[in-house]
Amino acid sequence: MNRKIAVLPGDGIGPEVIDEAVKVLKSIASAYDQKFSFEYGLVGAAAMDKTGDPFPLETENLCKKSHAILFGAIGDPKYDNNPAAKVRPEQGLLRMRSTLGLFANVRPIKSYPPLFDKSPLKNDRIKNVDFVVYRELTGGIYFGEPRGRTEDDQRAYDTCVYSREEIARIAVMAFEAAQNRKGKVTLVDKANVLATSRLWREEVKKISKEYPEVNLEFMFVDNAAMKVITQPSHFDVVLTENMFGDILTDEASVIAGSLGLLPSASIGHHSKLFEPIHGSYPEVAGLNKANPLAAILSAAFMLELALDAPGEANLIREAVVKSMSEGIVTEDIDPGSKHGTSDVGDFISGYIASKNVDELTSGTII
Ligand code: IPM
Ligand code: MG
Repeated sequence: MNRKIAVLPGDGIGPEVIDEAVKVLKSIASAYDQKFSFEYGLVGAAAMDKTGDPFPLETENLCKKSHAILFGAIGDPKYDNNPAAKVRPEQGLLRMRSTLGLFANVRPIKSYPPLFDKSPLKNDRIKNVDFVVYRELTGGIYFGEPRGRTEDDQRAYDTCVYSREEIARIAVMAFEAAQNRKGKVTLVDKANVLATSRLWREEVKKISKEYPEVNLEFMFVDNAAMKVITQPSHFDVVLTENMFGDILTDEASVIAGSLGLLPSASIGHHSKLFEPIHGSYPEVAGLNKANPLAAILSAAFMLELALDAPGEANLIREAVVKSMSEGIVTEDIDPGSKHGTSDVGDFISGYIASKNVDELTSGTII
């Protein structure tokens, strides 16, 4: 089957890390004799420069007709420094999430033994860290109405809104995931203060009855922020609302040693989008310094969740670990490294190409 992949490189380091992810997918296609077709679309500042719109209709249609979307990053400082700008690249990202209905953002957090010494946290804290955050992505304070300024321009307001349905659909996914993992869901909220958090607790408790083998615990977000650093191996599946998930996943990225390592999936009823969580990092754009591993791991995630190719996904993950243990990494991981973005992609695709097909079909599960 020919699988259609929409490729949206976006801004900053997006294009160069996505190039490496596509390189790796091509090596998978030839190793496994599979067919992927890549069709490129514009998004973010790159799209604004050409069309005036950060998420043009053409890109939306491309996403809708594809089996999966591989996305780089959005954001350009030339728009950040203009608070009066009517259109901002980030609006493209938010509109993409809401138009495509990508309500569940899945962000796995894992420590890699070859990188234990790169983490600012002590080795014994990050050993055995393997959890996944289910962040609600199309509701909460990011999208709630009303929002804006009072007429006298003295006050501004945002609104946090959640419906039971919005909570239930992602909660079910989190429980399903926990069933196949260590069997624990931690709902992170601020139920001692917020009405929306109390609705989350009520709804999630109800859903937990359908999953008697999964253990549900509640944790306030301030406490969770501390625990992510002091005892990250405590977590298995973290379920949380949009903004708490945004903050906690950036925080959790330090566990692995670099933000450049974290992939993510954004899942909706009809579309699935895969993206590195690091953002556009314009400071190093075009310098062949950006870490492509998060984008490459996002491609692996895509093979697993959208393209029914878990063996292929695992081979990519194996190659990624190999690049770490051989020191073929960018300077965010090893400040003395001479290896650039494309060297890492070359190493990983070379590793995949060096495997023979019989070995592959026997399947290595990692
Ligand atoms: C993320 C980013 C976005 C978010 C920004 C760029 C709007 O931080 O994907 O985590 O806040 O969701
Ligand atoms: Mg974020």
